[in-house]
Amino acid sequence: MSLWNLLDRGYSMPKKPGNCKERLLYRIGRHFALRHKNVEAPKSCLFHPGAKIHPRNGKIVFGGNCIIAEGAIIQGNVSFGDNCSVQAYTILVGGGTREDPSGQISIGNGVRIASHGMMIAANHIFDDPDKPIHNQGLRPAPITIEDDCWIGGRVNLTAGVHVGKGSVVGAGSVVTKDVPSMSIAAGIPAKVIKGRLAS
Ligand SMILES: CC(C)(COP(=O)(O)OP(=O)(O)OC[C@H]1O[C@@H](n2cnc3c(N)ncnc32)[C@H](O)[C@@H]1OP(=O)(O)O)[C@@H](O)C(=O)NCCC(=O)NCCS
Repeated sequence: MSLWNLLDRGYSMPKKPGNCKERLLYRIGRHFALRHKNVEAPKSCLFHPGAKIHPRNGKIVFGGNCIIAEGAIIQGNVSFGDNCSVQAYTILVGGGTREDPSGQISIGNGVRIASHGMMIAANHIFDDPDKPIHNQGLRPAPITIEDDCWIGGRVNLTAGVHVGKGSVVGAGSVVTKDVPSMSIAAGIPAKVIKGRLAS
């Protein structure tokens, strides 16, 4: 049994600390993130120490009251607004560098991201068929999720997509094109199945 399991009693998603063990747990989690000088997170953030948060050559900025679950991986250029959550085993990797944040992942306020999702804001370049793909480098492209979105479980947002304000992405979707505001998109590739506003 890991130390974290002793402290969280098997609860993977940080919640308002109810006792000193939980306070210690999230203090360690925030400390793990903030040991990197290019990570910013206010005290109100709750990070499980089993999350992997590393800015690589970029920068990670969290707004207030963000919650990051055990096993989530957040790397590279990523920014969050206030009141966001990332569930267990979701991977967010922003591309580019601090000087050139062309693969920035920008997440607005109040965004819920369920477990086992994947957002990588860069693609391998494979233009030259005579050269190994691993020698052709990466092409960053930003991913944006506007305020008040719910991204379901196992969703893959591909590099370059934009999810508009107030939208929902259904479980298991692969989003390859922009999702308009206030819509529900689902499937592979994801298509708008409904709007949220009464017609
Ligand atoms: C998208 C979602 C919110 C349902 O929204 P809804 O408005 O109730 O939609 P409905 O169930 O009426 O479905 C409408 C159509 O979309 C389809 N659909 C719904 N969700 C889908 C999905 N994830 N992938 C593909 N198609 C989907 C339905 O089969 C239905 O198709 P039909 O009209 O051909 O029968 C829900 O299906 C979903 O994916 N929830 C996410 C669950 C999750 O990831 N939870 C994680 C914990 S936070």
